[in-house]
Amino acid sequence: MKHTKIKELLSSDGAKTGVVAKGWVRTFRNSQFVALNDGSTINNIQCVVDFANTPEDTLKRITTGAAISVMGDLVESQGAGQKWEIQVKSLEILGDSDAEKFPMQPKRHSLEFLRANAHLRVRTNAFGAIMRVRSVLAYAVHKYFQDKGFVYVNTPIITGADAEGAGEMFQVTALDLNNLPKDENGYINYKEDFFGKHTNLTVSGQLEGETFAMALGQIYTFGPTFRAENSNTARHLAEFWMIEPEVAFNDLDDNMDLAEDFIQYVIKYTMERCQDDLKFLDQRLADEEKQKPQDQRSDMTLLEKLKFVLENNFKRVSYTEAIDILRDSTPNKKKKFQFPIDAWGADLQSEHERFLVEKHFKCPVILYDYPANIKAFYMRLNEDGKTVRAMDILFPGIGEIVGGSQREERYDVLVEKMKVLGIDEEELWWYLDTRRFGTAVHSGFGLGFERLVLFVTGMTNIRDVIPFPRTPQNAEF
Ligand code: 4AD
Ligand code: MG
Repeated sequence: MKHTKIKELLSSDGAKTGVVAKGWVRTFRNSQFVALNDGSTINNIQCVVDFANTPEDTLKRITTGAAISVMGDLVESQGAGQKWEIQVKSLEILGDSDAEKFPMQPKRHSLEFLRANAHLRVRTNAFGAIMRVRSVLAYAVHKYFQDKGFVYVNTPIITGADAEGAGEMFQVTALDLNNLPKDENGYINYKEDFFGKHTNLTVSGQLEGETFAMALGQIYTFGPTFRAENSNTARHLAEFWMIEPEVAFNDLDDNMDLAEDFIQYVIKYTMERCQDDLKFLDQRLADEEKQKPQDQRSDMTLLEKLKFVLENNFKRVSYTEAIDILRDSTPNKKKKFQFPIDAWGADLQSEHERFLVEKHFKCPVILYDYPANIKAFYMRLNEDGKTVRAMDILFPGIGEIVGGSQREERYDVLVEKMKVLGIDEEELWWYLDTRRFGTAVHSGFGLGFERLVLFVTGMTNIRDVIPFPRTPQNAEF
């Protein structure tokens, strides 16, 4: 028999006979009430078991985590908190779950414990909600760009380029499984020359994206990105997803407008479509906040924070203005910055970024016109000869969520910059062709998808907003 999703059953407009639901048992109370969840919604449906007419053996097997199928009537619920429940006529155990051994007990587990059980944590309310929100956000990303006529481009995952010049790359080597010569130390000898050159996993699809923008006008990428930065923080993953639009004829102001409009759109779209999940996550965060000392609590709830971002323009501030503010500030009476800002030209640390966003401006901030020597080679040099048309978007509680720029479209200036930085012109001959043939002003940015999911879900560790996180010393699943 065909089953109906629990989300549909719970929003039924009338009683129904002979409905079938399938899912996993969350709890079983008083040998009678099963809370059943199938992942279609955060809400469980209550299934009332006719325990007098259900074999003892079956009742015993209705345990947390078990997969079951129930058939019965959808009737108005007498209990509080839900409109509909199923009066069960027949119940089948599809897959047993040993209650003693099943790690996901019906109680609140620590996030560390859940990370160690990433394959099962998605069966909890919080992770079910996070993963549905993530999915809707991803859809909203495509919808935004597709509705505006952007072309979705799949840039390569294996590449020879180091787009960011940061050197934090995973090398790609071919392994010939039929012929595994070992060296004198017993290590496998990899085939280094599969591609005839050094290759790595992409750190950004930008350079390839630019070549497509120079033909298709407006493009975006949305794919996995890899960085071997050995920083064990709550904001960094070794494998994350990045969204990179690139637009011909856009200057930096257009780029800022696009980024702001895009972020507001995807948040709004997700708020409309994930109301139950966000209500749950809002409450979850409120409970967390209550555990903190009064003076460290946030003055806004999750839903208020999201609404705030939709209703307020991002503050646009030049790097030079930001440095002036930071030089004159201390984070609070007792504490100085760990890295005091004493000279123009210094790179901003996350403590500075968070100060600007959370303490000074108290709203999302777009910092622009950074010193050329702390930014990537491809950014457009300003007339002052020392700053570039870069922009970073900083978010409360997150720090940097977007990095982007207007690109250096002048061939001579770009080549000169590459020479200074020791970037091989021959390696990037294809990239330089965009500046040789029909070059034009163009701009783009990269949004770290997980940082956006962090913001929207109110979670604080990036490991908790991607299904199977990859971080130093951790690739278990
Ligand atoms: O600032 P980044 O390094 O910029 C670029 O890669 C440009 N090529 C983008 C472009 O202009 N097309 O990275 C962009 C964003 C960051 O702002 C951050 O949100 C995210 O990617 N990001 C990470 N997210 C998770 N884990 C990491 N290790 C990340 N590194 C960057
Ligand atoms: Mg950056």
